[in-house]
Amino acid sequence: MEKKTGIGKAHSKIILMGEHSVVYGHPAIALPLKNIEVTCRITAGDETLKFDMTDPLATAIFAALEYLGQEDAQLTYLVDSQVPQRRGMGSSAAVAIAAIRAVFDYFDQDLTADLLENLVNQAEMIAHSNPSGLDAKTCLSDRPIKFIRNLGFASLTMNLDACLVIADTGIHGHTSEAVDKVRKSGQTALPLLKNLGELALEAEKAIEQADLQALGNAMSQAHGLLARLGVSCPEADHLVQVARSAGALGAKMSGGGLGGCIIALVKTSEEAERLIQKLKEEGAINTWTEKL
Ligand code: MEV
Repeated sequence: MEKKTGIGKAHSKIILMGEHSVVYGHPAIALPLKNIEVTCRITAGDETLKFDMTDPLATAIFAALEYLGQEDAQLTYLVDSQVPQRRGMGSSAAVAIAAIRAVFDYFDQDLTADLLENLVNQAEMIAHSNPSGLDAKTCLSDRPIKFIRNLGFASLTMNLDACLVIADTGIHGHTSEAVDKVRKSGQTALPLLKNLGELALEAEKAIEQADLQALGNAMSQAHGLLARLGVSCPEADHLVQVARSAGALGAKMSGGGLGGCIIALVKTSEEAERLIQKLKEEGAINTWTEKL
């Protein structure tokens, strides 16, 4: 039975540790940002959709319709997103999840978690070449996760009594280009990637022990390695430096890089507020705070 409107929602994510190295099988830690959401609405339209298969949203909708044998359905779709695009906050994965949920809701069909992830990853192949699956998995999770490509994931308990400040450099991130850049670096990148994986494990231990300083140190070291891999950018380096000079326990770029966001760890909400002021004065165009 067709319903009038199909609605799908999804939330965004931020990578705490392990971007890029996760592509090579090293562990990563990422957090869902449950208050930053995307909603997709599907309604009946006047014509069959035409799909631009270079567009991840179109690919997600097509994948869902094809699975349901409804490629010729006459539909329109509307996406309402709080997730900034191309900032390392999982916009492409979140939009794909919301769209696929909306299609299944429109046709009143059950959607299992495995099928959803499978369809999202088809769309993510278009958004990022060779995705590790970390973005999709985090946008599908309600809890922070530790993720290892092709092996699986585990939910993490995070009771840190701390705040993560997220600041947008205002520069579009370029995940595919950054992933290609690392791949083309070949052997020279391998020790840096291994080191990033080790730092993700140190961060996991610091989280277990609620050792904020150790977590902050791991984050700052990871930023140095990501910069050496060539996936940071001057604006992110600047905001990381500003955060550290302002007393953050640690700071790093987050996500694919070559633009996008930085994250900084502070203890209290007051410190987060003060840091946000400073980051805005120094060029951040938008900020968010996440309790850890
Ligand atoms: C992109 O959000 C994260 C990367 O590690 C790529 C991936 O995991 O597929 C850069």
